[in-house]
Amino acid sequence: MDTRTSPAAPPKTIRREDYRQPDWIVPDVALDFDLGAERTVVRARLEVRRQAPAPLVLDGDGLVPVAVRVDGQATEAWRLDGGALVLDLPGDAHVVETEVALSPQTNTQLMGLYASGGLLCTQCEAEGFRRITFFPDRPDVLSRYRVRLVADKARYPVLLSNGDLVGSGDLDDGRHFAEWHDPFPKPSYLFAAVAGDLAERRDSFTTASGRTVQLGIWTRAEDRPRTAHAMESLKLSMAWDERVYGREYDLGIFNIVAVNDFNFGAMENKGLNIFNTRYILADPDEATDSDYDGIAAVVAHEYFHNWSGNRVTCRDWFQLSLKEGFTVFRDQGFSADLGSPAVRRIEDVRALRATQFPEDAGPLAHPVRPESYMEISNFYTATIYNKGAELIRMIHTLVGPGRFRQGSDLYFERHDGEAATCEDFVVAMEVGAQVDLTAFRRWYGQAGTPRVEARIARVEDGTVSLALRQSTPPTPGQPDKSPVPIPLRTALFDRASGARLAEQLVLLEDAEATVALGRAPGDVALSINRGFSAPIVLVADRATDELAFLAAHDDDPFARYEAVQGLMLEALVDRVASGDAGGAADAAVDAVGAMLADPALDDAFVAEAALLPSESFIGDQMLVVEPLAIHDAREWLRARIGRAHLAAWRERQERGANQPFAYTPEAKGRRRLRGVALAYLLAARDTDAAARALDQFQRADNMTDRFSALSALVGSDAAERETALDAFRVRHGGSPLVLDKWFGVQAGSSRSDTLETVVRLSRDPDFTLANPNRARALIGGFGANQLALHDDGGAGYRFLADQILQLDRLNPQTAARLVPPLGRWRRFGEARAAAMRAQLERMLRTPGLSRDLYEQVFRSID
Ligand code: ARG
Ligand code: ZN
Repeated sequence: MDTRTSPAAPPKTIRREDYRQPDWIVPDVALDFDLGAERTVVRARLEVRRQAPAPLVLDGDGLVPVAVRVDGQATEAWRLDGGALVLDLPGDAHVVETEVALSPQTNTQLMGLYASGGLLCTQCEAEGFRRITFFPDRPDVLSRYRVRLVADKARYPVLLSNGDLVGSGDLDDGRHFAEWHDPFPKPSYLFAAVAGDLAERRDSFTTASGRTVQLGIWTRAEDRPRTAHAMESLKLSMAWDERVYGREYDLGIFNIVAVNDFNFGAMENKGLNIFNTRYILADPDEATDSDYDGIAAVVAHEYFHNWSGNRVTCRDWFQLSLKEGFTVFRDQGFSADLGSPAVRRIEDVRALRATQFPEDAGPLAHPVRPESYMEISNFYTATIYNKGAELIRMIHTLVGPGRFRQGSDLYFERHDGEAATCEDFVVAMEVGAQVDLTAFRRWYGQAGTPRVEARIARVEDGTVSLALRQSTPPTPGQPDKSPVPIPLRTALFDRASGARLAEQLVLLEDAEATVALGRAPGDVALSINRGFSAPIVLVADRATDELAFLAAHDDDPFARYEAVQGLMLEALVDRVASGDAGGAADAAVDAVGAMLADPALDDAFVAEAALLPSESFIGDQMLVVEPLAIHDAREWLRARIGRAHLAAWRERQERGANQPFAYTPEAKGRRRLRGVALAYLLAARDTDAAARALDQFQRADNMTDRFSALSALVGSDAAERETALDAFRVRHGGSPLVLDKWFGVQAGSSRSDTLETVVRLSRDPDFTLANPNRARALIGGFGANQLALHDDGGAGYRFLADQILQLDRLNPQTAARLVPPLGRWRRFGEARAAAMRAQLERMLRTPGLSRDLYEQVFRSID
């Protein structure tokens, strides 16, 4: 089917309110694949059962039926309607067989069955299964699958699918087969198959009830040594889900396959997860510590989906956050338990502010449970995932871990084997955790980030009261907002003694409220939204010295981090607005110095807290974003903090540098702080900073130190920059994932020639839009570079739009994900806004846009 749109025929909008139960269900399906890269033949046998008086409609996308049979008889009595196969069937139960031919080799969308490297693999979520065979491709149709894979044995010695292997053997002509049976009914989006020349890291896990699960991680043979960390993470995840949620794995086999070409992170197909290599492969020489963390988090995420997603799936795609928000919350908990919970929370909130807050404040804002979409792929967003996780976290905060567990137990018990809704989850929580979530439900339906103003006042008798007011700015299609219940962990500190006076969970339910916090004789400091207990923008009326006090004394690490960030932001915003930075800059400089001098703080925390707010987050605080002024202010503050603590930075950069690599929390923290220190030394123009960076680069026995040195150098004019960039490419040119870093780091550079560099790199023989990781590294990296994108009279916008249009011909999903930076046009001054909009309009006028890109561009213009 041609899914390409034209302005004359815009894609149709799917609405949540239009949901209807399926007319036909398919309890059993058998699939037969005759696999080849150039041509694959798929025969499907569906046992269909009528639920309503309607024809059988089997979704299809780009499929041409070679043969159709009903109850064993060939039939011509079918029609195609917008790609779907429609059959009028007389009875209530039939066997429908279809045959189609596919061309995996030419599938550049990477949805359905496609070739990656020498492999054949599938991606079906959300609607890729209809590119493989005719089927009711919707998550509320659950089927038992039998899958037979046939392929050339030399080229594809390994044949994998969901469930258990029930048969295999050789055929004539050098071919062989494997048969897989998955006993758990599942929606089509969880189907997977892989064929290729793969090597296995094998291990096993014994579940709490004593069953042994065979674990396999499959990669190209040369990558096998780099799968140890992923395997370790998998076993830790399995144990964690048993301990924390009481969830055990349910099949005898759990396989993971890593592929080079993948549209996102990974996919939770039942018993056969398929991963982007980036979230599997790691060794110290090629992966940074944050890559290691990413692998642990994504391996856990996909594994946790086995319950939150597979055993209990989604009724329709409007419920996507039911599985994604909950599963992100679960993987965040896992990562927190694995390392430092405080640092992990800081990282999660930074990610939320970097991706979700701008989304919620812009043209693509949508509720955690959206009301409509044109292309569901566009809704795998930070709102569905990260804000969705914050909603679950608020419920957890409101009821506490024990009652939350009772709620989740009830949810899994009630809905096991079903396709459920967000409402089902909320009801299970209400009953299981004994809480009334009537008002809380609004969080699911309302887009936009609430702003909470907080002010403390003293009442006559020494009681301190907290005045709160909430409001949510309008978002597209939602001009008027209601108050939502906002849980605010709050504490008061006595300024004289530094002692904490009171801590409580304040629940702001109405538009305004005043809450008594307790009696306090002297001056107090207000610590609020501790631990980021609610995903809001806090506007607290706190003086610089109050923030400085909290930066030094708050005993909640997150709140302490926030206080330091608050000082930095105040200084930066003042600097941009008036060229002056008041007392906040001095206070920020002192706060960082005090943390560097405090032996009680661990390095990872100090590194996080010493990091300046990103340019885009600074921009979010302003009425009109001025990228250059923001950049200059940030460099100015960075240089000040650098110069003020030169000796400490040097010492932190050197500390432990000669010790061999170790993957321990202490060593990781030290490396993190080393990278931050190096950046401060370069900003301070310390005389030997560039040489020091090159020295770190050259002597590093691990990617974290090597890459932090390269990142620090890439924005500089020093000769060491070229030396390091060239050496990095020579050393790592053969490793695609590391080469992505090389492209990405240059795309993120603050140098004034970055656009030129990126244009040149887009013509590099190693650059290709066909590989999503590579495209994201260079084009996505450039789109995220506030300085370079908005520089130079619109040339950056034009380049970005050109690349998006080119990529759209190949891979609409990945192209559409590059649009949001241009969609922020309203936030900029007139000239920039007009130039950005002009590119959006040009894209929208381009004939033959994909549905994915059309929707993102269309919504971004409005
Ligand atoms: N369910 C997968 C995960 O979160 C991601 C699937 C993304 N699909 C898409 N069309 N973008 O683990
Ligand atoms: Zn997920």
